[in-house]
Amino acid sequence: MIYSRIVGTGSYLPKRVVTNDELAQTVDTSDEWIVSRTGIRARHMSNAEETSSYMGYQASLRALEAAKLSAQDLNMIIVATTTPDKGLPNTACLLQERLGITDIPAFDITVACAGFVYALSVADQYIRTGMVKTILVVGVDVLTAVTNWQDRNTCVLFGDGAGVVILQAADKPGIVSTHLHADGRQKDSLYIPSLLPGQRCEDELPYIHMEGKEVFKFAVKALGQVVEEILAANGLNQDAIDWLIPHQANLRIITATAEKLKLPMDKVVVTVDKHANTSAASVPLALDEAVRDGRIKRGQTLLLEAIGGGFVWGAALIIY
Ligand code: UT7
Repeated sequence: MIYSRIVGTGSYLPKRVVTNDELAQTVDTSDEWIVSRTGIRARHMSNAEETSSYMGYQASLRALEAAKLSAQDLNMIIVATTTPDKGLPNTACLLQERLGITDIPAFDITVACAGFVYALSVADQYIRTGMVKTILVVGVDVLTAVTNWQDRNTCVLFGDGAGVVILQAADKPGIVSTHLHADGRQKDSLYIPSLLPGQRCEDELPYIHMEGKEVFKFAVKALGQVVEEILAANGLNQDAIDWLIPHQANLRIITATAEKLKLPMDKVVVTVDKHANTSAASVPLALDEAVRDGRIKRGQTLLLEAIGGGFVWGAALIIY
């Protein structure tokens, strides 16, 4: 059997940090409200140079260094992003060019906040079938660029960043299984009307629109189900999980999923307080942080999960 093993992780956060108090100077909100409803205390906000391909590049350099590989060793690039630098070329091609390599497949997938889990799953299929040996999997978003800074319902929730893993073929797991879901009937709960100039948004502003309560309820239910599904599919109970690495949208959603798994919070990697919701970057950013600070160790079992606008959601079980 061929499995996909994580051989390196990396991440990048924009230099500028925006605290809740800073936001409260321009919009009717408070640190107390944001912390109590979401757990968010600060977020990183990119400047004009810190695009998705730039942040993906910086995170990729760190992952390559951790894996002791060079860019020439990569056989494929998959970028999960909803905020590409351009309409064309895709962000993966721009990242390939920044890395100074050519002639390997490079493509984006648009799966909102679940993008990284989806990208991991796609990459895993290529490696398991023996088609490709080494894949750069990137989750990156610049949601602050599509945020309405007058809308207190959404602008306090998002931040920017990139997270990367390098997957490589191995004879032991690795990725044990991935489980993906989507429900397009929920298209009106969380959406961005358009990223394309010239495309009509009807009367809507081209920013993130969100029915917060609906998203919250759906997220708690869907994530609770998918973590149960992945344990059942692998004949495991929650004691097998060393670390839950959840999508970082709201501390209350994270806590609800941990409770469903009966996992104590000291087995949950939490970055939402510092990063807010970085969409496709949130899970690999959290993973990289816990790998680098030594919490996650080789041989441990990780459960990753995420949900985003669509709705789209999924989970991955990984032996690190
Ligand atoms: O990646 C997936 C994407 N997103 C998510 O997972 C987010 C899911 N949703 C949530 O995290 C929560 O629903 C929110 C954090 C967005 C909102 O929390 P909530 O407990 O559901 O609050 P709410 O929507 O019920 O709003 C309560 C009140 C409202 O005022 P009224 O109508 O009760 O007078 C809002 O206008 O809080 C008000 N409010 C705010 N007040 C201060 C909404 N945003 C703010 C704010 N500051 N930033």
